[in-house]
Amino acid sequence: MKKISENIINKYAADHNLSLIQLNLGCGGRPIKQWINIDNYDYEKNDSSRSGSHYDIKMDIRNLDCQDGTVDKILLVHVIEHFVRWETINLVRHYRQKLKIGGQLIVEMPDLHECIKIYLQGRNAPHMKTPIGNISIGRTQFYGNQWDELDYETHRYVWDINEFTTMLQTEGFKIIKANHDAVFHIKGRDMFVVAEKI
Ligand SMILES: C[S@@+](CC[C@H](N)C(=O)[O-])C[C@H]1O[C@@H](n2cnc3c(N)ncnc32)[C@H](O)[C@@H]1O
Repeated sequence: MKKISENIINKYAADHNLSLIQLNLGCGGRPIKQWINIDNYDYEKNDSSRSGSHYDIKMDIRNLDCQDGTVDKILLVHVIEHFVRWETINLVRHYRQKLKIGGQLIVEMPDLHECIKIYLQGRNAPHMKTPIGNISIGRTQFYGNQWDELDYETHRYVWDINEFTTMLQTEGFKIIKANHDAVFHIKGRDMFVVAEKI
C-alpha cells in the first residue's frame, strides 16, 4: 500500500492545509471553495451541459487516488446518472471504502419518477432549450445529452429516490436526508440525498 503522502488527493489536502477532505466529484463548472474539485474532462465548446471544467485535480472518479478511510464528504451533483446502474453500485462501494466511518455521501440528481410526472404534463411542462430544440425538463433527463457527442455527458441510468436510497442502505449507508429540495439544479425534479457510512 502507498504511504498516505503518496496519494494524490491526500497530498493535495496536506499541501493546501485542508482540515477536512471534502471531494466535489465531477465538479464541471461548479467548483466549491475549501473542497477538492475533481473532474476528468476539460471543457469543450460543444458541451451544452456545463459552463466549464474548473477542477483542482484531474482524475477519473471511478478510481480515486486516496487512502481508504480518510475522506469526510463526497459530493456528486448531476453525475451519477452518467453511469450505468451496475457501475454506480461499484462507485458507491469505492466511495464507501474511501470515506471515514460517519463520513457523508451527498448526491443531487434527477429522480426518474419526478421526471416522468413532468414529462406527462406535455406542453404545460417547463421546457429547456437544447441543440435539438425545446424539450421538457423531465424528458431531457431520461437519456440526457444525446446531442453533443460527448460520451461523458450522456445519461445512462436515471434512478428514482426509493431505488437509490434502498441501494445505499444495502451497501452500508444510513440515510440522513432524502427529499427533492435540490440545492444546485431543479427543486422538485431532482432528488437530494445525504447518506452516512456506518
Ligand atoms: C452534467 S456535468 C455536472 C457538472 C457539475 N457537477 C454541475 O452540477 O454543474 C457531469 C460532470 O461529470 C464529469 N464526469 C463524467 N464522468 C466522469 C469520470 N469518469 N471522471 C471524472 N469526471 C467525470 C463530467 O466531466 C462533467 O463535468
